[in-house]
Amino acid sequence: MWVTAHGFVPPPYPYDRLNELRLIADSVQPGCIDCSVGTPFEPMPEVARNAAIAGLAKGQTYPPSIGELDFRSAAADWMRRRLAVECDPNAVAAGIGAKELVAGIPHWLKLRRPNKTVVLHPAVSYPSYAMGAELAGCRAVGVPADDEWHLDLDQISDQDADDALMLWINEPGNPSGSSADAAWMARCVAWAQERDILLVSDECYIEFCFPPHGTPLSADGAWPAGPSAMAAGIDGVLSVHSLSKRSNLAGMRAAFYAGDPAIVGYLSELRKHAGMMTPYPTQRAATAALADDAHVNTQRALYFERRSLLLDALNETPLHHCGGDATFYLWVRSDVGSDGWTVARRFAELGVLVSPGEFYGDQGASMVRIALVQPIGLLEIVAERLANW
Ligand SMILES: Cc1ncc(COP(=O)(O)O)c(C=O)c1O
Repeated sequence: MWVTAHGFVPPPYPYDRLNELRLIADSVQPGCIDCSVGTPFEPMPEVARNAAIAGLAKGQTYPPSIGELDFRSAAADWMRRRLAVECDPNAVAAGIGAKELVAGIPHWLKLRRPNKTVVLHPAVSYPSYAMGAELAGCRAVGVPADDEWHLDLDQISDQDADDALMLWINEPGNPSGSSADAAWMARCVAWAQERDILLVSDECYIEFCFPPHGTPLSADGAWPAGPSAMAAGIDGVLSVHSLSKRSNLAGMRAAFYAGDPAIVGYLSELRKHAGMMTPYPTQRAATAALADDAHVNTQRALYFERRSLLLDALNETPLHHCGGDATFYLWVRSDVGSDGWTVARRFAELGVLVSPGEFYGDQGASMVRIALVQPIGLLEIVAERLANW
């Protein structure tokens, strides 16, 4: 009987665990100010919208699983322009949003190396790295973070390294907003290459780096992207990119992976057999969005303004952002020693929903994550309420 089977039971989905706090926050006027999920608020860019609508004309045919050449070329052009990474469009392949890749890549790769049983990932991180490992039948090994919330390679045991199928890194990092420099990236790439472990670098937030708090962003919002792992090497290296955050396309499910041609080739062949196809409107929207930096600059300026507002507001409270200068997340600890759930409950009583740090691993249990996705008007209300902390 299906109902009495004793197999894998999925844990409660993290954000579903916020239902009680959501009710509390909702009871405060003007209703819950939701800073829990990192889902963009602003509309998708006009160029992407128009391209998506035009792409509907292809609805009767199957899209190429690997992605249209135009999409892959736009991705390669963007990597050259923004990341100083040279990549052949044939070493780029489409994803159906990055989460699908994060949760699926270990499973696909395990088919290639069935004797490897460990997926290494940052211990403080997006929960889907651990889930993807489990879904692949692997052991997820969270690598503790150092003082700046970067994964600490020195904490990986020789045994886990021997058994590792792959190593995930994520800089700029969710949830801490950490942003590693090129030297750190190069160290990770060299470490993985020496051990023949595939390094997969989730670079979803690479466009959202900012000057340190108190230093101005340029008037048009332009700012260099973070370093890509692929700048340090291609052998045994993949980067995963998403259009969800960069271009406010979370609902379109647009992403791609790029890097070592042999691995991109293997994954894209497998995924073709499995019917993984990114719909044409999404591919067209992503192609148009990747060619345009202006909307990203505008969005960066919005996030920067929100960060500055809330960082100033937090200064007047026993709460402190302990993370880095990147992403649209604040990673906040309370001076008075409360755990993350207690702090999240206090936020909910002020009408604000934030995520307890435990969602992102035990090492973050004393923290909360604030996603700066709401418009400035609502975040001004948050700032005022923080004064009553
Ligand atoms: C670190 C990280 N990787 C991947 C994703 C998934 O992004 P997508 O919307 O492309 O599935 C997210 C989404 O929040 C994320 O934070």
